[in-house]
Amino acid sequence: MAKIIAGVSSSHVPAIGAAIDNKQTEEPYWKRVFSGFEKSKEWMAQAKPDVVILIYNDHASAFSVEMVPTFALGCAAEFPPADEGWGPRPVPVVKGHPQLAAHIAQSVILDEFDITVVNKMEVDHGLTVPMNLLFGSPKEWPCPVIPVAVNVVLYPPPTGHRCFMLGRAIRKAVESYPEDLRVVVFGTGGMSHQISGPRAGLINSKFDKAFLDNLTKDPKKLTRIQHLEYMREAGAEGIEMVMWLVMRGALEDKVDEVYRFYTVPASNTAVGHIILEPHRRAAKKAAGKAKKPAGKMKRAAARAKTAVRRSR
Ligand SMILES: [Fe+2]
Repeated sequence: MAKIIAGVSSSHVPAIGAAIDNKQTEEPYWKRVFSGFEKSKEWMAQAKPDVVILIYNDHASAFSVEMVPTFALGCAAEFPPADEGWGPRPVPVVKGHPQLAAHIAQSVILDEFDITVVNKMEVDHGLTVPMNLLFGSPKEWPCPVIPVAVNVVLYPPPTGHRCFMLGRAIRKAVESYPEDLRVVVFGTGGMSHQISGPRAGLINSKFDKAFLDNLTKDPKKLTRIQHLEYMREAGAEGIEMVMWLVMRGALEDKVDEVYRFYTVPASNTAVGHIILEPHRRAAKKAAGKAKKPAGKMKRAAARAKTAVRRSR
């Protein structure tokens, strides 16, 4: 069966993509940002997922104000990089996983979670920047990606609680897929930032760090944050943080935080990043339980052998 082996969250600042494309990653300003993802790339090289499910928002690249789905699931075989005004980013075409995506669509819709199925879609920096941060800049992305686009650009966006529950529904879908696939879920966007208006440039590190703490320890507390609180505390674009809750909902209640990085600023935003894995003690316990029947079987086999000897 397929299983979710980890959750990763990361900002998807467009200027990070521009810094990669313009070969500025070694400049002191950007080195501070990229150095925070070196360990993450090592972790990802070890994790070697078979599939990534990547939660992000489209920035008027695939969808315009004429049509904005609240939740959209990419079911295509491939997703080309979008032209966001300067030509498409020089990154590989994203290969999808249509079979698993179709299974997720069926599972979540029959689970009364009505998601929009998208069979043709270009993907923008919201998806490609986190791919670079976790996989570097290879010629081909190392695994298929299922994009899940969440509307956070046109009011009303979904609540954090609804996003969390979508994560739960995605986990149920993945765990009922018959092929042995190791899946990593990305939640992207945020953290605190506001790109226009009188509060442009707003960053609230205290709010961001508390969000990171609770993402690990008490995600249900985060599901109670209302839109106005995100706006007030994290700026107009801070609402993107609800997408991290899709990732968190896709994990078990107890997780281990294996890595965290936070720096300010990148462009005019805070950059946050976290890697969460299923809680080790719980995983060990599950492994122990799985072994018990084997132990019982050994003891039963020994008893059977003794019985055979005695009967001779
Ligand atoms: Fe964004």
